[in-house]
Amino acid sequence: MAAIEDKTVVREYFNASGFDRWRRIYGDSDEVNKVQLDIRKGHQQTVDTVINWLKADGNLAGLSICDAGCGVGSLSLPLAQAGAKIYASDIAEKMVGEAKKRAQSILSAEQLPVFDVKDLEGLQGKYHSVICLDVLIHYPQEKAASMITHLSSLADDRLIISFAPKTIAYTLLKKIGDFFPGPSKATRAYLHREVDVVQILQHNGWQIERNAMTKTQFYFSRILEAIR
Ligand SMILES: C[S@@+](CC[C@H](N)C(=O)[O-])C[C@H]1O[C@@H](n2cnc3c(N)ncnc32)[C@H](O)[C@@H]1O
Repeated sequence: MAAIEDKTVVREYFNASGFDRWRRIYGDSDEVNKVQLDIRKGHQQTVDTVINWLKADGNLAGLSICDAGCGVGSLSLPLAQAGAKIYASDIAEKMVGEAKKRAQSILSAEQLPVFDVKDLEGLQGKYHSVICLDVLIHYPQEKAASMITHLSSLADDRLIISFAPKTIAYTLLKKIGDFFPGPSKATRAYLHREVDVVQILQHNGWQIERNAMTKTQFYFSRILEAIR
């Protein structure tokens, strides 16, 4: 499937059946099945890992952070609560709408992120840190390379990305198939070799500072923090 089609399929999915599914997974209601609950827990671990890294550096308050592909705000909201200035965007209008709704219910006016509906390759500006969690899974290797290159151009000091590593491809591919039922099966899951992602980062002038892996029964995500 061509990259342009991938984007269209992904946008449509996260504005329709995918929205409902992921809004529930990335929430706290009990409207989830066992697999979805496992994914919720795994994803939360990924979010917590990133938040812990940022907090450990001790300079989160006031830091400008771009959350590219923010989903319903699982990362953006706690970072905004911790005092960071957040720019949160997503290709799917419905996901951004939900993120905004959640933000308004828990954040003060000063803490509210700036929200935008945008393909991450259309983002502009400069941020101390750019973070892109669990988005690359929707794109093939060559597209991931151009996305990482664009995200690099937005980041002054740090880029954090997560992706499904190819080493456990078999299991993941099989399981991912179950997460996209019905017509949305057209939404493909792409796995990326860590060595390839590291190489793309290095080509863009980054070096790896931190590296973590989240692994639950149905959720796998490699997290890399790159610094200049
Ligand atoms: C699996 S969710 C992860 C959401 C969020 N990053 C998180 O970890 O909670 C993937 C998100 O990426 C968004 N997305 C996919 N392709 C995108 C693109 N090209 N630009 C911006 N957002 C994109 C989807 O709409 C969806 O909200």
